[in-house]
Amino acid sequence: MSHAMHHDDWIAICALDDIPVLGARRVARARGLDVAIFRGAADRVFALLDRCPHKGGPLSQGIVFGESVACPLHNWTIALATGEAAAPDEGSTARFSVLLDGGVVHLSARELAEHALEFTRPHAGPACRGHAEPAAAGSAALRSVPVTLQRA
Ligand code: FES
Repeated sequence: MSHAMHHDDWIAICALDDIPVLGARRVARARGLDVAIFRGAADRVFALLDRCPHKGGPLSQGIVFGESVACPLHNWTIALATGEAAAPDEGSTARFSVLLDGGVVHLSARELAEHALEFTRPHAGPACRGHAEPAAAGSAALRSVPVTLQRA
């Protein structure tokens, strides 16, 4: 939250209204897994690596309620603000800074390029569905779920 304001490299990703209410979109990166941006209750926007801390499920395809998302694979609950799993589960997913300004969602270019690159998708099992396409080099392409869109 407040640490988000320290960035000076915001790039516009999409309009708030491009994200379904209590839904998510995915942002493809040149390297690393996609970033999931969530529209929670009261139009607050959050961004997490699109990877459940349990077994790598795609959080962007989970159910958003309040300011949490339920992973589509085994129903862990992840807090959107912190990326932390709710007890009794343990773990956290990387979070990304978000700026909502004038109805436009921004992410940090530096974080998109450099943050949480070490995580990979499982190569087998249900968590690898729908993530076969490589990201375009040098761009952050906005994807709806599950249709692919280019950022305007
Ligand atoms: S992979 Fe998310 S709950 Fe298991």
